[in-house]
Parts: sequence; C-alpha cells; structure tokens
Amino acid sequence: MNLKESFIIKGFAGERKLNGTVRINGAKNSALKAISASILFDGPVSLENIPQTSDIDTILSIMEKLGARIERNTHDKTIKIDSSSITKTDIDADLAKGMRASVVLTGPLLTRFGSVSFPAPGGCVIGFRSIDLFLSGYEKMGSIVKEEDSLYKINSQNKLIGTEIFFNKISVGGTETLMMAAVLAEGTTVLKNCAMEPEIANIAEWLNACGAKISGIGTPTITIQGSSGKLLSAKVNFITIPDRIEAGSYLILGACCAEKLIIEHCQPKHLESVIELLRESGVTISTNENSITVQSDKIGDKCLKSLINVRTHEYPGLPTDLQAPFVTFLTQTLGETVVFETIFEARFKYIEDLMKMGAFITVMNPREILLKGPMQLSELPQGEELTAHDIRAGFAVVMASLLGRGSFTINNIHLIDRGYEDIEGKLRKLGANIERVVS
Ligand code: EPU
Repeated sequence: MNLKESFIIKGFAGERKLNGTVRINGAKNSALKAISASILFDGPVSLENIPQTSDIDTILSIMEKLGARIERNTHDKTIKIDSSSITKTDIDADLAKGMRASVVLTGPLLTRFGSVSFPAPGGCVIGFRSIDLFLSGYEKMGSIVKEEDSLYKINSQNKLIGTEIFFNKISVGGTETLMMAAVLAEGTTVLKNCAMEPEIANIAEWLNACGAKISGIGTPTITIQGSSGKLLSAKVNFITIPDRIEAGSYLILGACCAEKLIIEHCQPKHLESVIELLRESGVTISTNENSITVQSDKIGDKCLKSLINVRTHEYPGLPTDLQAPFVTFLTQTLGETVVFETIFEARFKYIEDLMKMGAFITVMNPREILLKGPMQLSELPQGEELTAHDIRAGFAVVMASLLGRGSFTINNIHLIDRGYEDIEGKLRKLGANIERVVS
C-alpha cells in the first residue's frame, strides 16, 4: 500500500467510449468472512476465487499474527489456511484499526478459544459504525465484556451458550459473526432480524457442507445448532461468489460511459435492484445466468431519465455500497432525483468533489441529497484534485473523471485498492486513459 499514489484520468467529456468485457472477481466481503471462519476448523481449509485486494492482505496479516499458517497462490487465487496453529487471541490493534471486518474474527476466536481482545475496529469512515450488536450478542451468549486500555476484552468462560438474539438493527457483520460464534456453541442459537446479503449464505452453506447445522439461510431468522466445541472438518473447498458490488460498479459505469460493456463472471440475480433502477432510467441491459451486457442505444442515444426517489436498502434493495456510483450516474440523467442513504450516516462526502466538477446537488441533510441533471462534469481549477473518501466513493470519483471534460487527479487511491482488484488494468482494457502515479 502506497499512500502517495494517485490516479490521473483523462475524461471522455460525456461521450460513451468504453467498450469490451470486464471480468468480475470473487467477493471481498465474502472472502474476508471465509478467512475468519477458518478458525472454526480442525485443520487446513482451502479457499478459492479470492480477490487480490488490500483488505484481504490485511486480514491475512492479522491471521498470521494470531499464529495461523497461510499459503497464498495469487496466480490461481487460492488460499490455504491452517488455524490449528493459532496460539493468540488478541487481534493486532494497528492492523484492526485499518479494517472494520477485523471485528468478524472475534466470533470464531471467542467460540473456539474462550477469549478475545481487540480494539474498536476501523475501516471506511462512512458513519459511526458501532459494534454494540456484537458485544450484546456475546453477553447474551454468556460472555463477560470489559473495556480496558482502549481494548475490548471478552471472556466466555470456555463456552458460548446458545440463546435467542434479536438484532435491533439489520447488520451484515453482526449476522455473520454471531452465526459463526454459534456454530461451536453449546445448544441452539436463534438469530432474528438477520441481514440477507448473499455473502452470508455463501459462508453458511460452506459451513454446513463441513458439518455445521445452520438453517434459515437467506431468511431473516437463522437457527444454529451448536456443536459444543466440536470443530468443523474441511470436507469441501470454499468457493467465493462473484463480487456483486464490483459487478454493480462496472454496470453503473457502463450505463453512462460505455458504448457496449459485458460484465462477465457475475451473478445478475444478486443485482436485481440496480438493474431495475437503471432500466427505469432508460438504460439498455440484458442478462444471462453469469453475465450482464449494458449498451447505449444505437440511434441518437436517447436521454436517460431521473428517478424521483432512490433509497439504499439492505439486500435485496439498492446496496449502500453502490450509492456513490449510482449518484454519479444520476448526474447524467434528465430531471431531479432525491437520494436517501438509509444505512450509513456519513456516506455523502464525495458529493463535494462532484459539485466542484459542476454537478448540481443540494445536500438536504447528512443522509439526503437532491440532484438535477444532466450535467457535463468539467475540469477543476488549476491545482485542485479529487479524493477517494472510501472504497466506493473512490470508484465514484473515478467514474466522474471518466465522464468529465479534461484531466483529473484522484488522491487517496489506496482506499480504492481495498476493494477493487486492478481497477486501472480493467479500465484501460476497456479504453480508459488512466495512469497510477506516485507523488
Ligand atoms: N451497526 C450498529 N451496531 C453494530 C453493527 C452495525 O449500529 O453492532 C450499524 C452500522 O453502523 C450501520 C448498519 O448497522 O449503520 C449496517 O452495518 P453492517 O453491520 O451491516 O455493516 P458491516 O457489516 O460493517 C458490511 C460491508 C460493508 C457494507 C455493509 C452494508 C463487509 C466487510 N463490509 O459492513 O461494505 O457497506 O455491510 O451492506 O462486509 C465496502 O465493501 O465498501 C463496505 C463498506
């Protein structure tokens, strides 16, 4: 990771110039959880289709510091993890501060070893991002939670006890982590008001194939019969599902920047909300089982329409992770749209950059904006640059630069690298003029 790297992008001034095929990687947010779940196993596990993003590097470093043995083959994108050599349960504070998903490790560590300590996890600054659901879940399962010297220290007195847990807020990480913790617990755990993101099912189905007893997968109520400490055995490899957020990002980009873009190795059924919204706006999209094609209309490229009202939502609604690319798309549509961010309270920081480029946006409140389009995004005054505020806002400013007139510099791109593998290689192959430079 080099904090001084930037992208320089020459925009297409609103013309649709991207063309070709982009191949989607395995889902970062699934792979991170499978790596954590390896702690539930009695020996080595093999994980396939692991993306090469810096968040994966970070969680593997945390696992190594705990004592896990890791063999990574970046060529065929597989990882073998042996957690039987783990000797520590204190999660490295410096590494954990850089990544929210580090909190997911606490469930498997606590349920297997009876204790865990960790700092408040970091990650994208997109809201307050409390961990109250994790802590209260562990307490309900019989653990004692203490906060000492800026660390959470949790002790389960050797075992977690199955119980009923209702999530007052729908949480992806909370659902996954308590589900994993319950796998080795004593008795039955019922999790209610669960998140239903496909990455959760990806993990649960793998755990079941290796001996776990999880039912209600993909529904709001998940029931786990604990094994009373009996570890899982790696009967099958974990195969990471395609990254629906990477696929959705390229789809939205294609909707306003591509003549014809084929997004392959993805699962269109995981992107129904985005596909429907784009179609409603007038974008031509076709799908088959594993690919999506988005293209401009051949004759005259009819004007894209605004959408009146768009809200992010838990799966299967519009993902919060696609909000920033979607807003960037909306700058190219005719009319007004109100966009409401329902999941995170600070996910509109990138708007300032779009406004500097000439987008007509009114911030109504920290969760709601009003856009008027279409706008030609234009070059910034001499010396002004764009910033990637988080992984997905980073993609949005890349997209805005490609739409823009002139040349743009984007800083902080190590945040984009956390979630998008080889973004410049993929974009260049589609015809973009993008360069990574070190300042
Ligand atoms: N929340 C609480 N208390 C908790 C846990 C969550 O109040 O104990 C709140 C959060 O503050 C937020 C809401 O619940 O307002 C939803 O958060 P959630 O727990 O679902 O998010 P997460 O598990 O931390 C994952 C993804 C995010 C994605 C969200 C929502 C991973 C590693 N991260 O985060 O992905 O935005 O779900 O879908 O799976 C990204 O990839 O760029 C990214 C940020």
